[in-house]
Amino acid sequence: MTAPPAATTGHFISLEGIDGSGKSTQAQRLADTLRAEGHDVVLTREPGGAPGAEAIRELLVTGDGARWSAVAELLLFNAARRDHLENTIWPALAAGRVVVCDRFADSTRVYQGVARAPLGDLVERLHRLVIGTDPDLTVIIDTDPETALARGRARGGTEDRFERFGLPFQQALRDGFATLARDNPDRCRIVDGNRAPDAVAADVAALAAAALGPGNAA
Ligand code: ADP
Ligand code: TYD
Repeated sequence: MTAPPAATTGHFISLEGIDGSGKSTQAQRLADTLRAEGHDVVLTREPGGAPGAEAIRELLVTGDGARWSAVAELLLFNAARRDHLENTIWPALAAGRVVVCDRFADSTRVYQGVARAPLGDLVERLHRLVIGTDPDLTVIIDTDPETALARGRARGGTEDRFERFGLPFQQALRDGFATLARDNPDRCRIVDGNRAPDAVAADVAALAAAALGPGNAA
């Protein structure tokens, strides 16, 4: 599918937040909860979520921080996102499924648009030109940057290119997500991520239930 579906009965929910805030944990838990309620759920993530996009992910999240200029990095994220939309998200929405996505375009707005370089105008223009899709609901997991960074480091692995930009960068990201939520009150909701996973999951599930509306359990 190379163009967005004209009309869909599907629902698109994204989870956002700084590195280590708990998005992946909550995306998995939300998908499990919705499936238990009978929804047909596609759990996916960015960067990645389709074979081509996963190959681009590897280029983006490993290696030296200075590996890409801010603009080159922005173009790679858009290439990955377009591939993800064409091969995973648009077909799922067209089929009436619920898409739960661990990060989406708001990560670009905040990481590339504000925190890494002030590229907000270019970010929005590219989004309109080649992406054109935003979630119905975006849940921002708001976690203290020191807590989140410690969680991320404890997790280990090699996908730490952005975590290695350090604590001030994570603080700028947190502020960026707060501004984004203020500017998009129709679809963005903030959840306190400094609590136990069960408490966070209960809030995320309640927001998703409200977004899916009554009568949407399959
Ligand atoms: P993200 O996807 O935002 O980077 P993860 O969900 O991968 O975050 O969580 C990062 C680490 O913190 C993982 O090891 C995870 O098990 C742990 N974690 C996630 N949520 C919580 C929480 N609410 N409290 C404590 N640890 C958590
Ligand atoms: P992710 O695997 O979600 O990282 P984490 O689990 O640490 O939160 O995403 C990889 C990195 O890519 C993360 O540091 C955020 C960054 N990123 C951007 O800078 N822009 C984007 O558009 C996306 C989707 C991710």
